[in-house]
Amino acid sequence: MTLSFAERLHETRLGLGRRIVEHIRSGTSDLAPAAMRNDVSVYTDPVRHAAERQTLFRETPVVACFSNDVREPGQFRTFDETGVPIVVVRGRDGEVRAFLNVCQHRGARLVREAEGKANLFTCWFHGWSYANDGHLVAAPEADRFCDADGVSAIGSSDHLISVPVAERHGLVFVQATPGSTMDIDAHLGSFGAQLELLELDKAEKVKDGVLPVDSNWKFALDTYGEGYHFAALHKQTLAPYFRSDITVYDPFGPHHRVLFVAREMETWANRAEEDWGVDDALGGIHYIFPNTILFAGAVSPGKRYYTTFRHFPGETPGETVTYKTIYAPGGVKSDAHRKEVEDAWDATAHVVRTEDYVVSAEGYRNLQHLPPGSTVIYGRQEISLQNVHKSLAEAIGMPLPPVTATNPQMREAAE
Ligand code: FES
Ligand SMILES: [Fe+2]
Repeated sequence: MTLSFAERLHETRLGLGRRIVEHIRSGTSDLAPAAMRNDVSVYTDPVRHAAERQTLFRETPVVACFSNDVREPGQFRTFDETGVPIVVVRGRDGEVRAFLNVCQHRGARLVREAEGKANLFTCWFHGWSYANDGHLVAAPEADRFCDADGVSAIGSSDHLISVPVAERHGLVFVQATPGSTMDIDAHLGSFGAQLELLELDKAEKVKDGVLPVDSNWKFALDTYGEGYHFAALHKQTLAPYFRSDITVYDPFGPHHRVLFVAREMETWANRAEEDWGVDDALGGIHYIFPNTILFAGAVSPGKRYYTTFRHFPGETPGETVTYKTIYAPGGVKSDAHRKEVEDAWDATAHVVRTEDYVVSAEGYRNLQHLPPGSTVIYGRQEISLQNVHKSLAEAIGMPLPPVTATNPQMREAAE
C-alpha cells in the first residue's frame, strides 16, 4: 500500500522522533565506526581548490534559489555565485530557464538587477531586447545593423545561451556550464523524497544576505555538519537550547540529514508518542551536495523557518561567501510573523559571524602554518564530515591524501 504524503511525513517524523528518544533514554548517538584524519592540504591546496571550483560548482547541479523566488511568469533572479554570470527566469509557459547573462551583441551584462519581473530583458548598452524564453526579439536600427541578410541574421542566431536548469521539490538547480548534461534525478537520488517532505514549494522568502569569510569553503561548511561544537563555541547562544552530545545522522548518497536534539525533546522520553510534538522532529540540517545547507529551525515551538546557507568558494582556497536566505514555510501569515522570521535571520547570522566564522577564519590561517603532512581529525560523532569529505574527493577525482597515524608536530614533541 502506498502511503499518502501526510502519512509519509508523519511516519518520517515519528521514526526520527523515536530515534531521538532512544538516544536520550540510553545515552547514545549515531556514530561513525572510527575517527578519521584528513590532511590539511585538502583545505589549503590551490590545485584541489581549482578542481573543486570546476567540477563541483560548474559541472554539478547547485541550488540557485527556491522555486517560489521565481514564482510568477517573468520573475527572474541573477545567479553569479559560481563566478559564471547567469540569470534564472520563469517564462510565460511556466518553465524555469537559465541563461548566460550576456548580451549576444557585444557581451554586455544583460540583466543588472539582482531580482525582479520583466517580459523583456533590454540591454542597456545598445538596447537589444530578449524575451524571457531567451529569444532575441528586437534590435534598434536593425535595418542599418545588418547587411544583405537583414534582421533575420540577428534574430535567428543570437538568442541567449542556455544553461542547464531543473526544478525539483521547490528548489531551482543550475549547472553553470552551457551545453553540459545535467541529470538532477540521478544527482538527488533517494534524497529527493526527503526534500519533498519539507514542502519547500510553499515557502516564502523573507530576508537574504551574505556572510563572507576568509576561510576555505569546506572549513566553513564543516561547521554546519556537527553539533559537537555547541557546548564550547556556542556555550551562550545554542548550547542552552540544543544538546551537543547526540547526533541523528542519515546519509543519502553524498547528501545527508543531521538532526540536532533540542533540550525540550528530553521531555519526550517521559511522554506518550502522541504528545511528543513530532512536527518539530524534522528540524536540523539537510545537506544538498556539494555546498548547500538547508536548516530547518523554529522561532518558538510550532513556528518554523527554513534557512539556506549556500557556500561558494572564491578565487583562492581562503575565500568563501555564504549566501544566507530565510523562508517562512507555508508563507508569511502577518507582519508580526514576518518580523519574527527576519529576527531569526539576524540572530543566526550573528552566531555565524561572531562564532562559527571567527573560528573558520582563524582556523584556516592556522592550517596554512602547519608542517606538511599535518592532519585534522573528524571524530566518530562528526560522522557527516567524514562522509562529506570522502564524497567531495570522489566527485573531483582526487583521492584524499594518505595520512599517517599522528601529526608530524606531535611526533616531534613526543620524541
Ligand atoms: S551589447 Fe547588448 S545591445 Fe549591444
Ligand atoms: Fe556552529
